[in-house]
Amino acid sequence: MTEPIVMYKDVHKSFGDVKVLRGVDLDIKPAEKVAVIGPSGSGKTTIIRMLMTLEEPTSGDIIVDGKNLWHMEKGGKLVPANEKHLREVRGDIGMVFQHFNLFPHMTILENCMTAPVNVQKENKTSAKERSIEMLEKVGLGDKLDNYPSQLSGGQKQRVAMARALVMRPKIMLFDEVTSALDPELVGEVLEVIRDIAKEGEMAMVLVTHEMEFARDVADRIVFLDNGVIAEQGPPAEVLENSTNERLQSFLHRFRR
Ligand SMILES: Nc1ncnc2c1ncn2[C@@H]1O[C@H](COP(=O)(O)OP(=O)(O)OP(=O)(O)O)[C@@H](O)[C@H]1O
Ligand SMILES: [Mg+2]
Repeated sequence: MTEPIVMYKDVHKSFGDVKVLRGVDLDIKPAEKVAVIGPSGSGKTTIIRMLMTLEEPTSGDIIVDGKNLWHMEKGGKLVPANEKHLREVRGDIGMVFQHFNLFPHMTILENCMTAPVNVQKENKTSAKERSIEMLEKVGLGDKLDNYPSQLSGGQKQRVAMARALVMRPKIMLFDEVTSALDPELVGEVLEVIRDIAKEGEMAMVLVTHEMEFARDVADRIVFLDNGVIAEQGPPAEVLENSTNERLQSFLHRFRR
């Protein structure tokens, strides 16, 4: 059996008195595509932000490719991770946000090149080459010198994807990447994600409200409810055969 690329072990997260995650155990295999669904406030964003090191767990462990993300070894003991450790382990992970987060003063090519050049210290020529390759992959090869303000929402979101892909992550996180888009732009973005998923080698965690999309793309659907995984399994089972009442009432809202 292959080792999981990501393991959550009894992960809890509170903000002040509010318990947001109450013991999450989740293994993700290399190349596995996991869709996370659940009501607003159930903790979906929090789960992936912890993996991106944007939020620290209150307790529990997250293991990435065999390495403890939030702790490191020092003198034979586990101590809280420092910035360097976090940065190293996070190097395997890329994330696309709901609100693109592009740099407005940079062209889309520069947006893609900046992290490889300035963070990974890759030379400019090869970073540029790969950035162009990724922008072509998301269908924006003719927009390299445009600024984000000159693009549609769907195009901006595709730039955000290219920018994450340039870093060659082993794991890609998508947080409701179509929910800020006009309905007519949703399709083009989902199409790009489908293409990336088909290439296969990356693990993907997709927080989404697009149930049809989740069914198509995911190997597994995880239903998060009130800070715990209340149901999980292959898409057809979770979406059609679950007897979990909370899940059924959640899904009911998507049926017309
Ligand atoms: N930085 C924060 N400080 C305080 N509370 C927070 C913070 N981030 C999230 N929360 C709270 O944690 C809970 C879970 O938030 P989270 O964003 O993970 O939910 P979600 O499942 O992604 O919801 P949505 O579908 O609306 O995006 C919410 O009640 C939210 O208000
Ligand atoms: Mg969210």
